[in-house]
Amino acid sequence: MLTLEKLCAGYGRMRILHEVDLHVGAGELVALVGANGAGKTTTLRGICGQLAPQSGRITFDGADTAGRRPDVLVRDGLVHVPEDRALFGTLTVEENLRMGAWTASADAARTRLEQVYELFPILAERRDQVAQTFSGGQQQMLAIGRALMAGPRLLLLDEPSTGLSPKLTWTMLDAVREIRDTGVSVLLVEQNAKQALAIADRAYVMESGSVVLSGGGAELADDERVRKAYLGL
Ligand SMILES: Nc1ncnc2c1ncn2[C@@H]1O[C@H](COP(=O)(O)OP(=O)(O)OP(=O)(O)O)[C@@H](O)[C@H]1O
Ligand SMILES: [Mg+2]
Repeated sequence: MLTLEKLCAGYGRMRILHEVDLHVGAGELVALVGANGAGKTTTLRGICGQLAPQSGRITFDGADTAGRRPDVLVRDGLVHVPEDRALFGTLTVEENLRMGAWTASADAARTRLEQVYELFPILAERRDQVAQTFSGGQQQMLAIGRALMAGPRLLLLDEPSTGLSPKLTWTMLDAVREIRDTGVSVLLVEQNAKQALAIADRAYVMESGSVVLSGGGAELADDERVRKAYLGL
């Protein structure tokens, strides 16, 4: 579904990503983990069309994404939840969710709204509350909910557990797993490697802009080198 081949990308002339190879298959939940500044967010920016590759190739459904704008990629089913959430703070929960459905018919938007409320009941309870009064975790649920309103086939999530307690992190990651179970492919970026590896089908470990390890989620979690270097275990 998504393939990165020797992707190099960065800011201006500065290169951050060095020949990154990565694959997400249909229906897979793939984690991309690594320390602060490893290049995880930069990778997602490249995939969603916010950042043009310096070299290498990104293909989505077999077609090169080069030159396709982020909004065009959203229509094609590739939807990104950015690190900063980018919610409309003065709008209500339901208004934020409806903004996410700009690619959808009225019927599809209604159905998806019900699905989002089922996945995150707190959003249904608070549907008339303005987004800026939400806690960090609730804002994260809203940002994911809004992305689901676009009907993604591949969802890119940038650290959905940021600022959440370990318990709330599990709630969030359970929701991510549920999303995968509905057939949506997910590329999950996390600093929280231990929990991300626990739910991922496969994972990549990134260090200084390069993929240094990859494998099954459980397999990597058990790997002595990963445990020492990245999980602090
Ligand atoms: N807009 C930018 N302009 C210049 N350099 C940037 C920009 N955004 C990020 N960088 C640099 O790119 C490198 C990778 O950053 P990136 O945000 O991709 O890391 P990350 O793995 O997402 O880290 P974190 O876990 O802290 O979110 C860092 O050295 C960072 O300083
Ligand atoms: Mg980041």
